[in-house]
Parts: sequence; structure tokens; C-alpha cells
Amino acid sequence: MRLTNTVLACALVALPASAQFSPQAPARSSRAAKPENCAVCHGKEARELASSIHANAGIGCTDCHGGDPSSMEVATAHGKELKKLATPREALESCGGCHSDVQRMRLYGQRTDQLSLYWTSKHGERMAKDGDANVAICTSCHGVHGVLAARDTRSPVHPFNQGETCGRCHADATLMAKYGLDAKVVEQYRTSVHGRTLLEESHPAAPSCATCHGSHGAAPPRVADIAQVCGQCHSVVQSHYDASPHAAATSKGKSVQCASCHEGHAVAPPSAEMFLGDAEHHCGSCHADEKDPARAVGRELHAGVTGLARAIQETEQELRTAGGRGLFLGAEKGYLDDAKGLLVRARALTHASSTAAQTDMLNRGQAAVLQTRENLATKARIFRDRKIFTTIFGGLTLVFAVVLWMYGRTIGGGWKRGRTGSEARGDSKHAA
Ligand code: HEC
Ligand code: HEC
Ligand code: HEC
Ligand code: HEC
Ligand code: HEC
Ligand code: HEC
Ligand code: HEC
Ligand code: HEC
Ligand code: HEC
Repeated sequence: MRLTNTVLACALVALPASAQFSPQAPARSSRAAKPENCAVCHGKEARELASSIHANAGIGCTDCHGGDPSSMEVATAHGKELKKLATPREALESCGGCHSDVQRMRLYGQRTDQLSLYWTSKHGERMAKDGDANVAICTSCHGVHGVLAARDTRSPVHPFNQGETCGRCHADATLMAKYGLDAKVVEQYRTSVHGRTLLEESHPAAPSCATCHGSHGAAPPRVADIAQVCGQCHSVVQSHYDASPHAAATSKGKSVQCASCHEGHAVAPPSAEMFLGDAEHHCGSCHADEKDPARAVGRELHAGVTGLARAIQETEQELRTAGGRGLFLGAEKGYLDDAKGLLVRARALTHASSTAAQTDMLNRGQAAVLQTRENLATKARIFRDRKIFTTIFGGLTLVFAVVLWMYGRTIGGGWKRGRTGSEARGDSKHAA
């Protein structure tokens, strides 16, 4: 009796949901979702599943949980073998099992390495060791019934949402303390150049958590990998770094890499001031002795980069002033753009930590600035000469006009009265 009541109550509450569930599941031709009575009693799960990517593939409750979908009695619907998937391991094996089925996934062009990668991740290692329920499993990152395509901007694993998804655990200081992990990484990332570029400017070229850590195989990059991780995007900088004494020291077991000077998460816009002094991340923070040859290299790199930057800035100001006076300066702006490009390359070249490598680039940059200045000077000279000429010529014309006018008055009105209209117009133009 009690059972029938439950059935009725469930049916009443969930009927609209079930109606929504089966017929509206977006059909992939023959793979439309199967009508299942489970939905009558489990409206919430059914609605979530209907809006998930799994509904597209015709996946129903029984594909994951088993049971008898034709029954309306709890006992028979669940049967003896209902898979509750309540432990992390069961859930992992359910999601991961199907996703490593090559035959099945080939139809959808999906990769089949998520579960095997998972076991190599820090999450998976811990799970394998003691079944720790605090680590991430498939459902912690993707959700359970409402799983969406990873590229869907509403998906919890979309780059825009990873900070929040990973942050549910990684920003939880109490939880992270148990593993000796830093819970500030999420906030540091959010306010870094990378976080701001991705989250505030929606710029897809900036890295999210999974870009640097991997998604299924999530682990911190090992010392030797960090340049590779950053170098995916900053490839020019990386190539110069690879030629530096720092890369050599790193390959010998010391650790001087991108993150030593820029941090992994709190990446801030760098400045040339880092070449001077011994503040955190500055050259002197490791090369503490003022007499260390590295300090002299730092000072020279600083002088080279800031010298070129200043020359560019001053010349830009001169161009602006000259432009305000009416000079047309297309070519000069072009030369200065060349100089700016060379400055960008010279800044990247500082990563070789060698002044020799940088000299050529700085010389070319200074040459481009010089070219801009010479051109500007020539144009200004021509402009000035033309102005002098116009002034003298204008003055002479005026004098000539006055002389003509006076001459006209002297020889009397008869001359003026005898002329045609067109001559009169020519005359007045001349006078003007
Ligand atoms: C007649 C209503 C009804 C039908 C039909 C029904 N269920 Fe349930 N289900 C329930 C109720 C009530 C509970 C919670 C009580 C319990 O654990 O038995 C439940 C619990 C569950 C749970 C969670 C078990 C747990 O202990 O955490 C799963 C999973 C589940 N159902 C799956 C299914 C699937 C799959 C189907 C279809 C094959 C189905 N149910 C059909 C009523 C129903
Ligand atoms: C793609 C696999 C998959 C499909 C399809 C699926 N489930 Fe589940 N379901 C799971 C997993 C995994 C869990 C365990 C989640 C957890 O522990 O948080 C679960 C948990 C549940 C629970 C327990 C919820 C709770 O809060 O304890 C119920 C009830 C349930 N599912 C019902 C259904 C019903 C009804 C359907 C069909 C409409 C369905 N599921 C379809 C994978 C699936
Ligand atoms: C720590 C979070 C996390 C866990 C745990 C996780 N995923 Fe993912 N998953 C992601 C992210 C992030 C992406 C986005 C793809 C990317 O950018 O690498 C993704 C993408 C996917 C994709 C899309 C195809 C692909 O491989 O890129 C599938 C399928 C998938 N995951 C299935 C699973 C399965 C199955 C499990 C459990 C074995 C799982 N995921 C565990 C975060 C996770
Ligand atoms: C019965 C097999 C099956 C099970 C179990 C299953 N999936 Fe899937 N999953 C699929 C298929 C098939 C697709 C492809 C659907 C498509 O591309 O239309 C898919 C797609 C996905 C995607 C989207 C991939 C992309 O293109 O971005 C994610 C994420 C995903 N599943 C995660 C999970 C998670 C998490 C679980 C466990 C809760 C799970 N899957 C359980 C079969 C399954
Ligand atoms: C459900 C909670 C949870 C979620 C969600 C989660 N993690 Fe974790 N993660 C953990 C726990 C707990 C550990 C510690 C495991 C250990 O040390 O054994 C960990 C460890 C890690 C580590 C290894 C740290 C180290 O030095 O040992 C990395 C890297 C990591 N997670 C990245 C991610 C990323 C990236 C995401 C999101 C795509 C994510 N995690 C989502 C709980 C989570
Ligand atoms: C630009 C690359 C990059 C991005 C983006 C990034 N990380 Fe990291 N992460 C690193 C590097 C490099 C390390 C190791 C060195 C260090 O700790 O700075 C690391 C270390 C970690 C660790 C171990 C910290 C510890 O205390 O040992 C965790 C956990 C972690 N990251 C999680 C995340 C999460 C969560 C996100 C997204 C909010 C994220 N990371 C984004 C590069 C990145
Ligand atoms: C997925 C691509 C990607 C990865 C991986 C990446 N970055 Fe970036 N990085 C960017 C983008 C995009 C910007 C912002 C645009 C710009 O200023 O160049 C940026 C900006 C920067 C800046 C500031 C540049 C400036 O002139 O203000 C630094 C420093 C930096 N990244 C260092 C790193 C380090 C260190 C790592 C590795 C731990 C790393 N990046 C990994 C894409 C990436
Ligand atoms: C020894 C310290 C140090 C190391 C190691 C280092 N950088 Fe830098 N980086 C700097 C300094 C100092 C600047 C500022 C240069 C300037 O402003 O003139 C800088 C500037 C940058 C810039 C902005 C200028 C540009 O060229 O776009 C990026 C991006 C960058 N670094 C990325 C990286 C990456 C990626 C790595 C690893 C391959 C790395 N850095 C390794 C010290 C370092
Ligand atoms: C994180 C520590 C660290 C930082 C920061 C650092 N260095 Fe180094 N540097 C080293 C190590 C380690 C070596 C390898 C030689 C050694 O063991 O003393 C080295 C070697 C050098 C060398 C080769 C010197 C020689 O005697 O062979 C130069 C040049 C150099 N660094 C310049 C710089 C400059 C310029 C900066 C600032 C942009 C800088 N370093 C920042 C750690 C650092």
C-alpha cells in the first residue's frame, strides 16, 4: 500500500518532467533516448540527462544504473542489480569504462584515454592508493547527469569555468592543508596577466588551469617541463632561455626557470627593474654578491632595453608634435614601428642572459630610431624652407599688387573703364 502511494506521488510530481524527457531528447537519428519509467519517479535526474550531451547519444538511465525501465514498481524497477554508483571508484569505472570503449567512442570521434590518463594524475594516484574521496573524479569536474560537451561555454570544464571548478577544492584552505598544498593558487591565477586576459578579456589564447596542468593527467609540471609548458605559447622567449646559463644550470639539477622569475600562478607584467637590485624575482635575489658577473650582465641588459625604450618614447613625442604642425609622417611612423618591433625582440632576447646576443638587436633598434629622427629632421627642414619661400613670395606678390594698383590710379580712370569683364576678374584675382 505504502509503495503504491509512493508510486502515485512520484508519478504526479514528475509527470511533466517525464513528458519533457522522452520525446524532446534531441535525436541523433536512430539513437534517440529510450523512454524509461525511471523518469516518472526521478524527474530531476531525467531533466538533467535530457539536456546533456549523453541524451544526444541516446544514453538512458539503465546504461549507467541498470534496472528494469519498463517497471513502475520500485522493487522491480531497481531490481537486485541496480548500480548506485555511490562510491568514487564505481563512478570512475562507469564513466571511464564506457569512455575507454574504442568501438563505441569511434562513432563519435572521441578520445578514449581519459581513464588511463586519470590514473597517472595526482588525483588518480591518490585514488589508487587509498580511495581518498576528496580527490577529483570524472563527476567532480564534469557533473553527473547534466554532462555537457567540453567546448560548451556552460560546461564546468570550459576554460572560462575551470577556476571555479578546480577552485571548489583547490581554493578550500582547510582541504588543501591536509595535502600540504597552497590554496592561494586559484586567486593568484585569477588576478594574474593570464587570468585577467582569459576571464576579463575572454581572450582564448591565455592559459587556464588545464592548459598548464593537463585535465585528466593533472599534475604540476616537473622542473624540466616548465619551460615547455610556458613555451607552448611563449616560444620565442623559450628558445632564448634554452640558450641561457639558466637552462644549463636547470638541466644540471638546479632550478632557474620561467616560474623562478615570473611565478607559475601570480604572473605579473614584468619590468626591466627586475634586472637591478635583489628584491624577490630580481637578478640579485639569486646573484646576491654585487661583484657576481651576473649583476653586471643584469645592469647592461637593463641599460640596453631601457635606453632603446626611452629613445622610442622621445621620438614618438617629437613625431606627435610635428604631426600637430601639419607634417605628414607616414614613413617616419613606419620606421618607429620597426624600432618597437625590435624592442620586443630585444626584450625576449634578455632571456639568453647574455649581452652579446642582444647587442645586434639593440643596434638595429637604435638605427631605426635614428632613421626616424633623420627623416623627421629632413622633412622639418623642407617644411621650414617652404614656409620661408611662401612668406617671401607672398610678400613680393603683395608689393607687386600695390604697385599695379597705384599705377592704375596714376594713369587715370579711362584705362579701367575701357576693359572687358573677364579681364576685370583676372585682375581682381591677382590682387587677392
Ligand atoms: C516507482 C518509482 C521509482 C521508479 C520507477 C524508479 N525509482 Fe529509483 N528510486 C525511487 C525511490 C523512492 C528511491 C529512493 C529510495 C530507495 O533508495 O529505494 C530511488 C532511488 C534510486 C537511486 C539511488 C539509490 C540510492 O540508494 O542512493 C538510483 C540510482 C535509482 N533510484 C535509479 C533508478 C533507475 C535507473 C530506475 C529505472 C530503471 C528507477 N530508479 C526507477 C523510486 C523509483
Ligand atoms: C552517464 C551515466 C549516468 C546516467 C545516464 C544516469 N546516471 Fe544517475 N548517477 C550516475 C552516477 C555516476 C551517480 C553517482 C553520483 C554521485 O555519487 O554523486 C548517479 C546517481 C544517481 C542517483 C542518486 C542521486 C543522489 O543524489 O544520491 C539517482 C537517483 C540517479 N542517479 C538516477 C538516475 C536516473 C533516474 C537516470 C535517468 C534519467 C540516471 N540516473 C542516469 C550516472 C548516471
Ligand atoms: C580534474 C578535472 C577532470 C577530471 C577528474 C576529469 N575530467 Fe574530463 N575533462 C576535464 C577538462 C578540463 C576537459 C577539457 C579538455 C581539455 O581542455 O583538456 C575534459 C574533457 C573531457 C572529455 C572531452 C574529450 C577530451 O578528452 O578532451 C571527455 C570525454 C572527458 N573529459 C571525460 C572524462 C572522464 C570519463 C573522466 C573520468 C575518468 C574525466 N573526464 C575526468 C576535466 C576533468
Ligand atoms: C554508456 C556509455 C557512456 C557512459 C557510461 C558515459 N558516457 Fe560520456 N559520452 C558517451 C558518448 C557516446 C559521448 C559522445 C556524445 C556525442 O558526441 O554526441 C559522450 C560524451 C561525453 C562528454 C563530452 C565530450 C566532448 O565532446 O566534449 C563528456 C564530458 C562525458 N561524456 C563525460 C562523461 C562522464 C563524466 C560520465 C560519467 C558520469 C560519462 N561520460 C559516462 C558515452 C558514455
Ligand atoms: C573534488 C576536489 C578536487 C577538484 C574538483 C580538483 N582537484 Fe586537484 N586535487 C585535489 C586533491 C585533494 C589533491 C591532493 C592529492 C594528493 O596530494 O595526493 C589534488 C591535487 C592536484 C594537483 C597536484 C598537486 C601536487 O603538487 O601534488 C594538481 C596539479 C591538481 N590537483 C590540479 C587540479 C586541476 C587543474 C583541477 C581542475 C581541472 C583540479 N585539480 C580539480 C582535489 C581536487
Ligand atoms: C601558466 C601555467 C599555469 C596555470 C594557468 C596554472 N598553473 Fe598551477 N602550477 C603551475 C606551475 C609551473 C606549478 C609548479 C610551480 C609552482 O608551484 O609555481 C604549479 C603548481 C600547482 C599546484 C601545486 C601547488 C603546491 O602547493 O605545490 C596546484 C595545486 C596547482 N598548480 C593548481 C592550479 C589550478 C587549480 C589552476 C587554475 C586556477 C592552475 N594551477 C593554473 C603552472 C600553472
Ligand atoms: C596558452 C598560452 C600561454 C601559456 C601556456 C603561458 N602563457 Fe604567458 N601569456 C599568454 C598570453 C595570451 C598573455 C597575455 C598577452 C601578452 O601580453 O602577451 C601572456 C602574458 C604573459 C606575461 C606578461 C607579458 C607582458 O608583456 O606583460 C608573462 C611574464 C608570461 N605570460 C609568462 C608566462 C609563464 C611564466 C608561463 C608558464 C608558467 C606562461 N606565461 C604560460 C599566453 C600563455
Ligand atoms: C632569470 C629570470 C628570468 C627567467 C628564468 C625567465 N624570465 Fe621572462 N623576463 C625576465 C625579465 C627580467 C623580464 C623583463 C624584460 C623587460 O621588461 O625588458 C622578462 C620578460 C618576459 C616576458 C615579457 C617580454 C616579452 O618578451 O614578451 C615574457 C612573456 C616572459 N618573460 C616569459 C618567460 C618565459 C616563458 C620564461 C621561460 C621560458 C621566462 N620568461 C624565463 C626574467 C626571466
Ligand atoms: C632563481 C635564481 C636566479 C635568478 C633569479 C637569476 N639567476 Fe642567473 N644564475 C643562477 C644560477 C643557479 C646560475 C648558474 C651558475 C651558478 O651556479 O652560479 C646562474 C648563472 C647566470 C649567469 C652565468 C654566470 C656565470 O658565471 O657563468 C649569468 C650571466 C646570469 N645568471 C645572469 C642572470 C641575470 C641577468 C638575471 C636576472 C634577469 C639572473 N641571472 C637571475 C640563478 C639565478
